[in-house]
Amino acid sequence: MASFSDLLKTRRSIRDYEDKQIGIELVKEIIAESCLAPNSSNGQPWRFIIVNNKPMMATLSEDSKKNLLSDLEKNPNSPIKNYEGALRNPGFNVFYNAPCLVFIGGSKKIRSLSVDCALAASYFMLLAAEKGLGTCWVGLGSNIKDPELLSSLGMTEEYQIVAPIIIGYPKNIPEIPERAAPQILEVIS
Ligand SMILES: Cc1cc2nc3c(=O)[nH]c(=O)nc-3n(C[C@H](O)[C@H](O)[C@H](O)COP(=O)(O)O)c2cc1C
Repeated sequence: MASFSDLLKTRRSIRDYEDKQIGIELVKEIIAESCLAPNSSNGQPWRFIIVNNKPMMATLSEDSKKNLLSDLEKNPNSPIKNYEGALRNPGFNVFYNAPCLVFIGGSKKIRSLSVDCALAASYFMLLAAEKGLGTCWVGLGSNIKDPELLSSLGMTEEYQIVAPIIIGYPKNIPEIPERAAPQILEVIS
């Protein structure tokens, strides 16, 4: 088994996938283990939605793109500006045609929701890497607003998406994008 340190290097954001389905049971297994993540007061507010269906993912991608572009029109200085070209490209699927997508989110009422779900997401991505799978957190895929789509996903008014994560078999594992040296502001000893 690879050391944890090696695993951290193997887990990369994957944007190119084999055309191969991933078993729901395997996804559920990874989700179950992700729930071992630390979380505020052990409240476990995370909820998961599995979309193992490419046409549905393409529809979700289109809705998210449309809503991001509409937000950009209202706020032209938004950081989304950097992605405008891609979002206007009809061939661009924010989910990179991956075979499967997992939304991690939960009730907007929970104060620690984002932190708890991000920790579960982190575990999810590492567990997937350990099993030879690739993932990518796709923030651009969280702007789904169409009421019918939300309802078909089982998302109530209360549900907030924190982490849309695609998962599948990677075509290859890219190099680690360069990291800056950590900025340690103080060491008090
Ligand atoms: C909150 C968050 C949102 C992200 N959104 C996107 C996205 O919309 N599309 C994308 O291709 N990658 C997205 N990423 C992946 C990052 O681009 C990636 O983690 C970063 O470039 C570092 O690469 P690495 O994950 O391989 O270390 C996101 C990552 C995080 C944590």
